[in-house]
Amino acid sequence: MFYRAAKPLLFRLPAETAHTATKRLLKAGQGTRIEDALTARYRVDDARLRTSAFGLDFDNPVGVAAGFDKNAEVPGMLAALGFGHVEVGAVTAEAQPGNPRPRLFRLPEDRALVNRMGFNNAGADVVGPRLARTDAPVPLGVNIGKSKVTPLDEAPEDYRYSYERTAAGGDYFVVNVSSPNTPGLRDLQNRDHLEAILGELLDADARPLLVKLSPDLTDGAIEDALAVVDDLALDGVVAVNTTTERPDTLRSHNRAETGGLSGAPIEERATERVRFVAERTDVPVVGVGGVSDAAGAYAKIRAGASLVQLYTALVYEGPALARDINRGLLGLLDRDGFDAVEDAVGADL
Ligand SMILES: Cc1cc2nc3c(=O)[nH]c(=O)nc-3n(C[C@H](O)[C@H](O)[C@H](O)COP(=O)(O)O)c2cc1C
Repeated sequence: MFYRAAKPLLFRLPAETAHTATKRLLKAGQGTRIEDALTARYRVDDARLRTSAFGLDFDNPVGVAAGFDKNAEVPGMLAALGFGHVEVGAVTAEAQPGNPRPRLFRLPEDRALVNRMGFNNAGADVVGPRLARTDAPVPLGVNIGKSKVTPLDEAPEDYRYSYERTAAGGDYFVVNVSSPNTPGLRDLQNRDHLEAILGELLDADARPLLVKLSPDLTDGAIEDALAVVDDLALDGVVAVNTTTERPDTLRSHNRAETGGLSGAPIEERATERVRFVAERTDVPVVGVGGVSDAAGAYAKIRAGASLVQLYTALVYEGPALARDINRGLLGLLDRDGFDAVEDAVGADL
């Protein structure tokens, strides 16, 4: 109800300004009675939603995708909105300003966003200690990216530095080699680079360790990446990041902006990639891309996702979204005769 009033005001602002304003509001409430009030309103407490993946326990399967809370400023408030985990970051070894603005665009007719943020973040030296001081009631993932100034062949040490700075505060770690907005980054998804980066992180005892893939990889390239996941006994796969493709169906004029597309137009493709990955690996899959309601979350779960995440739909649907999805999931589990969400994981495979 509150968001119905706030949304038109927020949508009058440039997208990034609206995002910053929202985060400022969340930050002001964090650690206060507002956080408790939101928790009472939005957290769905039901044993059927509890699930575990890569050795961690989750109250529910719906998390916040990387990029929303890049600097780990509001994980407590996001948990209070009912999310079962929060993936902070991307964090890079060097603090960096990201690309020039504007760099975040709404595509309202398509319920989508295009972003070319370019890993703007405060850097691992700042985010790491902040995370270590955070006592959010849900698991916190750390999405790690490569600093723009670091050459590709020095990427392993760059990722390791960010891991070591954030190790104390993170519960799981995601190697992000799939953002389209750092030149050359997605080349790191090839076998040799991946082995070097993941090997370096495992040498530093980074666990649980996951890798996040692009929806634009060919089937063969995904299979190569999964071979590395198997060889190195990684703990999970996050599928997927944003796409540089532009489906013909897009109507908003901002489709012409350069960057990664997210939201409704990538939903089906993302679910199909979740299925592709889940069919080829035994490790947990985190399903991301276009989730905006319980049916969409459930589709990814049935396609093999142990957890789901979302970002773009928060912009369009507002703060009640995690609660609505979790409540809706309970109804869908009931309808289909599942005792718990865990039983539905991979039901369609
Ligand atoms: C503004 C913005 C920033 C993002 N930043 C990151 C990031 O730093 N690291 C990352 O792995 N993914 C990032 N993503 C991708 C999301 O985590 C997610 O994979 C993608 O948006 C698809 O999910 P959605 O359709 O629910 O938004 C970002 C997405 C958006 C919209």
